[in-house]
Amino acid sequence: MRAVDLIDKKRRSESLSAVEIQWLIKGYLKGDIPDYQMSAFLMAVCLNGMDARETAELTMSMMREGDSIDLSEIPGVKVDKHSTGGVGDTTTLVVAPLVAACGGAVAKMSGRGLGHTGGTLDKLESIPGLSVELGIRRFIEQVKNIGIAVIGQSGNLAPADKKIYALRDVTATVSSVPLIASSIMSKKLAAGADAIVLDVKTGSGAFLETVEESRRLAKTMVEIGNHLGRKVVALLTDMNQPLGLAVGNALEMREAIEVLAGKIKGGNPLYEVCMLLGVHMLKLGGIAGDDGAARKLLEEAVKSGAGIGRLKAMVKAQDGDESYIDVDKINELCAVKARIPVCAGQKGHISSMRTARIGQAAQMLGAGRATKDDGIDPAVGLVMHKRLHDAVEANEPICTFYVNDETRVQGAKTVFLSGVTIEAAACRQNSPMVYGVVE
Ligand code: URA
Ligand code: CA
Repeated sequence: MRAVDLIDKKRRSESLSAVEIQWLIKGYLKGDIPDYQMSAFLMAVCLNGMDARETAELTMSMMREGDSIDLSEIPGVKVDKHSTGGVGDTTTLVVAPLVAACGGAVAKMSGRGLGHTGGTLDKLESIPGLSVELGIRRFIEQVKNIGIAVIGQSGNLAPADKKIYALRDVTATVSSVPLIASSIMSKKLAAGADAIVLDVKTGSGAFLETVEESRRLAKTMVEIGNHLGRKVVALLTDMNQPLGLAVGNALEMREAIEVLAGKIKGGNPLYEVCMLLGVHMLKLGGIAGDDGAARKLLEEAVKSGAGIGRLKAMVKAQDGDESYIDVDKINELCAVKARIPVCAGQKGHISSMRTARIGQAAQMLGAGRATKDDGIDPAVGLVMHKRLHDAVEANEPICTFYVNDETRVQGAKTVFLSGVTIEAAACRQNSPMVYGVVE
């Protein structure tokens, strides 16, 4: 077999056999196939797609080339969740402790922020001392003891995804349904959960902007999971504005604590998406029979303090200082040299947000990495004061920047303001928070 022939086949929109796909993945991991040939292949997939069978074969090849984790010694149904990536998308830090407090077993491997999107590991690491590299033995013991652990992807789990993802990031080949589906599902399947709730983001801050494409991604991932005997539900949720108001690591940690402490209540988009994810996790985990019962359990875990207690227990178990899991004390981690308001240039209504640019502005302030090797500043980022369709006055703050390095402000401000459109006329009603559920 020759890589050039397989690239040519996909360039002509033909489908590849299982043997051909396996050969490509193995060859690329071994280093027999160079980056430039894999890049050309990925671009051909981006442009011409893959059918359901090819996508499943690609996922399974990527999953089988690395380690798989056996969670069977943890009693009960192990439930995982995964977001396709967003801005102000702080759901794991809220919903994982709530589900654990309700009796679920949450064994979760999370990622770091990439590009304009944030990552759970970076947010957790804003807590002093906290480790996300526990090793598999400690990971399993922690879930057995307290029902929750959130760690980084272990060394040899889906190594093909690691290598291919890094290449996609720099070759404009991220936004593709078969490539995103195989990337996410190869990792989730190897990580061993029995049931997976997927939060597929759609809109200007997601990797796929249209509802149709996002729905296709959701269906593809659910089919792959079911094919391999896992229970999978995908929610299609809105990313046409940041989900929470905070964008940044300690800032998002603070907002998650505010939800768990009952300070942010029902009706708030972050709260509602967390509840919805939690409802499906409890149902798949066999803990609640229907939506109403599941929601009641989750709300009780907020009211009783059991949810925030579980986050504290997790932080302590992972060597973090759990005293910071507190609505007042967490403010110390959000302390910066300057808080700078970013104001509207004119009076009107916010008619649209290019949400990726809001994420990018936070990243430019130091909340995210421009390259994989950059460090981040946990305290910096931004807090929105306005949501989509809100009215604004001229010179009224749209957000506040949390800044430690003032040389970064001007660039971030330009990018932020280019992401917020203000029109004189009042806008149509809000777009939905949830576009559908794929089961
Ligand atoms: N998240 C992933 O893990 N992979 C993708 O391709 C996109 C988002
Ligand atoms: Ca994420």
